[in-house]
Amino acid sequence: MMMEEPRMVFMCLLILATFQQVVVSDEHQPLSKVAIHNIISELDQNAYVKANPSVLGLKGQNTEWVTLQYYNPKPTMDDWIGVFSPANFSASTCPAENQFTSPPLFCSSAPIKYQYANFSSPNYKKSGKGYLKLQLINQRSDFSFALFTGGLTNPKLVTVSNKVSFSNPNAPVYPRLAQGKTWDEMTVTWTSGYGINEAEAFVEWGPKGGKLIQSPAGTLTFDRNTMCGAPARTVGWRDPGFIHTGFLKELWPNKVYIYKLGHKLFNGTIIWSEQYQFKSPPFPGQNSVQRVVIFGDMGKAEADGSNEYNNFQPGSLNTTKQIIQDLKDIDIVFHIGDLCYANGYLSQWDQFTAQIEPIASAVPYMTASGNHERDWPGSGSFYGSMDSGGECGVLAQSMFYVPAENREKFWYSIDYGMFRFCIAHTELDWRKGTEQYEFIEKCLSTVDRQKQPWLIFLGHRVLGYSSAGFYAAEGSFEEPMGREDLQVLWQKYKVDIAFYGHVHNYERTCPIYQNICTNKEKNNYIGNLNGTIHVVVGGGGASLAEFAPINTKWSIFKDHDFGFVKLTAFDHSNLLFEYKKSSDGQVYDSFKISRDYRDILACNVDGCSPTTLAT
Ligand SMILES: [Fe+2]
Repeated sequence: MMMEEPRMVFMCLLILATFQQVVVSDEHQPLSKVAIHNIISELDQNAYVKANPSVLGLKGQNTEWVTLQYYNPKPTMDDWIGVFSPANFSASTCPAENQFTSPPLFCSSAPIKYQYANFSSPNYKKSGKGYLKLQLINQRSDFSFALFTGGLTNPKLVTVSNKVSFSNPNAPVYPRLAQGKTWDEMTVTWTSGYGINEAEAFVEWGPKGGKLIQSPAGTLTFDRNTMCGAPARTVGWRDPGFIHTGFLKELWPNKVYIYKLGHKLFNGTIIWSEQYQFKSPPFPGQNSVQRVVIFGDMGKAEADGSNEYNNFQPGSLNTTKQIIQDLKDIDIVFHIGDLCYANGYLSQWDQFTAQIEPIASAVPYMTASGNHERDWPGSGSFYGSMDSGGECGVLAQSMFYVPAENREKFWYSIDYGMFRFCIAHTELDWRKGTEQYEFIEKCLSTVDRQKQPWLIFLGHRVLGYSSAGFYAAEGSFEEPMGREDLQVLWQKYKVDIAFYGHVHNYERTCPIYQNICTNKEKNNYIGNLNGTIHVVVGGGGASLAEFAPINTKWSIFKDHDFGFVKLTAFDHSNLLFEYKKSSDGQVYDSFKISRDYRDILACNVDGCSPTTLAT
């Protein structure tokens, strides 16, 4: 039995090897280092990989550890173990590409993770024996562990393990909350292996201790041809399963609700998730303490240390951990683009949603779209880069709900108590005359500042100000054309703070308008800012970006480290801003704004039309 599986794998790989690959390599995605197309077979009858246990999740867990024991009679330093899921990466599952795609046609996927054989076995090179502990999450298929020699670039398959699977691979998993189109609607999105032909998806929910009801959920999926290019439609493709969204409406403000995900099979059986809970949003304008966390560019990492080629997203687990630790004092989270850097390797989206589950299942996890979600040449993105690895936005727009009119356009507004958030989509045109510009003006202009004084603008790329080396080199200190049109709106509608990611560090400016600081204060703002404070908070986890060596006059605080921002609105007149490092959760930069709402009704430069004292 053990020998049949390697042969099957080898046959599949041999088929693949006959095709010449044109996979777009993204230097940022560790899985792109595995040259699937170069794999050849060097099966060794005496080699083995044994995985234990072979059935996971017997108590309903969706994350489990597996121990591998292996032996290679001819060990080398760059031997590695690839985790494949499904366990048999069979060419027979390959659908035809559409008529617009030229060969080669790929049928197999890259491993979902990998690790070097000597990672936890220093004597592996001598003895050929090793062991490895790997963390697996439930992602709808079984797993196998293949031992390769020849490194990542010229892999030679030596042997493959027994199969491992979760007891219910289709189970509903990784719920992520998002505020709906109105303040009193919460949406919950999750992933499962149950399509509309097998089961009805629903959410059972209600106030804690109160009567529970069941609300139906919609189901989405997509196929390989939905992807815009490689690797998403070639070696990075993996069946996404089904993505469900339920809408929990007419919530009472400030109430704890419990919820459970369910799938009613057509034989009457119900498959349940575990139970979760959240606190419903405050009524817009409500006077209470409200706490918001904002960061960009977090990415994902593996708790078992796998995939860490190039130290890909070293800060992501720390950021996740700090937010989880502070979760009881957080009401809503904004991850402003570059979510998981799957870059066309779809398996990574499941792993990302598993990583953030403790956060996203408990508080609204609001997303923005970044270049690594959306950009693809010829797909309508403002930038023609290949940063999405062929996903062209489909994954982000399906895996996460946002209350946009059109999820492909991905701009939206959120009212949360005393806050109004306007979320832009920097991967589509935002300049004057565009539909997005119109949206931004409408979002900023329609807020009643007496009730919602804290007006926040969010977007992925830096449309405002950044001292990042690559923006300085362009001489723009922003995304070219970024603020040219928008600064008029920020000024006119008195936006308090604008947040960006994309640049992987932290920076805060003075209140600024047209390159000029409008306020000399640095930490304790009283009254009208007369400009907007711009904050880069792109140090969520992905490898850090350098600042330019020059000191920009508008920059108040810079930090070349991983971190995130927390805003606390104490009431309508007092806002606290804190920047925390992901390494220790401590505050390294902060400021306060104290003012009366009438301060922002007053005029400043270009802020509003002059009034007359005539009576
Ligand atoms: Fe980015």
